[in-house]
Amino acid sequence: MFFMFDTLEGYIKPGTVEAELVKQIDFTRLPVHVAIIMDGNGRWARQRNLPRTEGHKAGSESVKEAVEAAARLGIKYLTLYAFSRENWKRPEDEVNTLWGLLRKYLAEESRVLLENDLRLKVIGERNGIPYLVRRELARVERQTRNNRRMTVVLALNYGGRQEIIKAIKKMVRRKSRLEEIDENSFARYLDTAGIPDPDLLIRTSGEMRLSNFLLWQSAYTELWVTPVLWPDFRKKDLLQAVVDYQKRERRFGGVEPVQKKGRT
Ligand code: FPP
Repeated sequence: MFFMFDTLEGYIKPGTVEAELVKQIDFTRLPVHVAIIMDGNGRWARQRNLPRTEGHKAGSESVKEAVEAAARLGIKYLTLYAFSRENWKRPEDEVNTLWGLLRKYLAEESRVLLENDLRLKVIGERNGIPYLVRRELARVERQTRNNRRMTVVLALNYGGRQEIIKAIKKMVRRKSRLEEIDENSFARYLDTAGIPDPDLLIRTSGEMRLSNFLLWQSAYTELWVTPVLWPDFRKKDLLQAVVDYQKRERRFGGVEPVQKKGRT
């Protein structure tokens, strides 16, 4: 199969910062699942005396770059926090711009997803998503459902606490037997069922918060915070995050470092 996104070769120019970072990466120990809290679009726009919506527009270009860089690198799951439950509190025109940008992204990028063997998956409360966007999301999810190279998980109208409550309700409705409830059986009721927990969580724009993102799933996730604002986030930032991640010892509560091999 021919991919428009080939490997890193040709994508990373020799002698650049990116090339130096790639040299430091151990490709047998890549994080399988990288999740990103894309923050700082508003501040990026304010710094340029632009309306906040311009920050989101520039942010959607960073989304394209992050997807391409992650796929070329060999990441298996990339989760992007694109619209939180709390984002509805923003002014109506900003909310409309965000959903509009998502529709535009789907219209422009569904071909890219298809041609590069990328699968789209949505987590969050679908019912609250504007109908036309929901329809497009369902179309792209259906078209890409058998793709295997990387899964792009979009967290939309998503909240970690709400996801946990929804999972509990589903579980109770199915009358799960008390003794059958454990961490693994519970996780199967979450929106992320079947997706491994994130190994690395990136947050841009310097804030040190989870903001209701993947609360259950990020119990042992390595957090990496950068002051870079999301519209300025480039492949070198993703590479740097992976380099730093690989320098950390993951002990999962034990005393010995645990080496998790890259899974597919
Ligand atoms: C946070 O910046 C970002 C968001 C609330 C939305 C993220 C959306 C995009 C990057 C664009 C559309 C998404 C896709 C998938 C095409 P902020 O507005 O909270 O920034 P601030 O904290 O500086 O105000």
